[in-house]
Amino acid sequence: MGVFVSTDDPGPAGHEQVVFCQDRQSGLKAIIGIYSTALGPALGGTRFYPYASEEAALADVLDLSRGMAYKNALAGLDLGGGKAVIWGDPDQVKSEALLRAYGRFVQSLGGRYYTACDVGTYVADMDVIARETRYVTGRSVEHGGAGDSSVLTAWGVFQGMRAAAEHVWGSPSLRGRRVGVAGLGKVGRHLTGHLVDDGAEVVATDVDPRALEWARTNHPGVALVADTAALVAADIDVYAPCALGGALNDDTVPALRARVVAGAANNQLAHPGIEKLLADRGILYAPDYVVNAGGVIQVADEIEGFNFDRAKLRATRIFDTTRQILRLAGEEGVPPAVAADRLAERRMADVGRLRAIHLG
Ligand SMILES: NC(=O)c1ccc[n+]([C@@H]2O[C@H](COP(=O)([O-])OP(=O)(O)OC[C@H]3O[C@@H](n4cnc5c(N)ncnc54)[C@H](O)[C@@H]3O)[C@@H](O)[C@H]2O)c1
Repeated sequence: MGVFVSTDDPGPAGHEQVVFCQDRQSGLKAIIGIYSTALGPALGGTRFYPYASEEAALADVLDLSRGMAYKNALAGLDLGGGKAVIWGDPDQVKSEALLRAYGRFVQSLGGRYYTACDVGTYVADMDVIARETRYVTGRSVEHGGAGDSSVLTAWGVFQGMRAAAEHVWGSPSLRGRRVGVAGLGKVGRHLTGHLVDDGAEVVATDVDPRALEWARTNHPGVALVADTAALVAADIDVYAPCALGGALNDDTVPALRARVVAGAANNQLAHPGIEKLLADRGILYAPDYVVNAGGVIQVADEIEGFNFDRAKLRATRIFDTTRQILRLAGEEGVPPAVAADRLAERRMADVGRLRAIHLG
């Protein structure tokens, strides 16, 4: 049985709608947060995670769905922002019945929310969910999906980094720049390839010995350091956090030697105020949700019928968006993170307003 709760008025944290989904037999407990549909249907992944409490799951989904609205707005997509969480340990409770029950809740929203992969959900899960709903992206290539989204995430990060380099050094080329990559996972590996191709000197770290082995085998010129603390303190020009959130915090920012930060990790700023600390130290921060939008651009393209070249072209425009944000930040005398938020809010307001024009 499902429990369906929706709000017509702006709900918690300014959300349009928050839907609680439950199916006792399969063990499904999920929350879908729709922050905004001003630009189109809300798109954002489903996180499957063993939250400590329902409050923690709700807080996460509200935070994440709001973030997706801003990311999708600045990615130039005709999509709003939403996100979902399934509360539980995927290793213990994930099943066909649970995923399909979840898919029916997604379908019940009639296209107001499109889902995709996130922590704890994979392309194969999207294929199962798609048996109950057509509002799914991030599907397998066999089903017309975009496949691994880290390909264009890395490409977009590289473009954002080039725009930041141009802003600081006058040229977008990273040739001869020392770039520190923290996390040689899916995105970090592709990014390393782009940097090496561009002539950058890469310094990297990862906690997983297999990732280090990958670097030794594929890019023997990459210098490896013991941990992120060593990377942050190293003589680098650019810092690219590509592991976990909170990479920019009260410990790392004072120690950071780089002039530019541009990386894939979500939620890099550990708390409000860090963006100002970065600016005070003369470090240019290319906002995470701007430069890492290549992945959502890749999966969003599936809605039109996936075309890699078209998606790559869109991800390449992250260069222009980052450049625009950095200029706006300079003009308005605010950190780039604040300028990015303002630009996203402007697009949501300016374009969202047009819905009031009656189409007959
Ligand atoms: N994959 C995408 O399309 C995408 C899109 C947008 C944002 N992101 C974000 O980018 C980041 C990387 O994503 P991914 O898909 O490459 O993930 P991943 O899990 O493939 O890679 C993460 C890597 O970071 C390493 N790592 C973890 N903790 C570390 C630490 N303390 N120090 C150094 N290395 C550490 C892991 O060993 C792993 O190799 C994540 O924050 C993710 O949320 C990814």
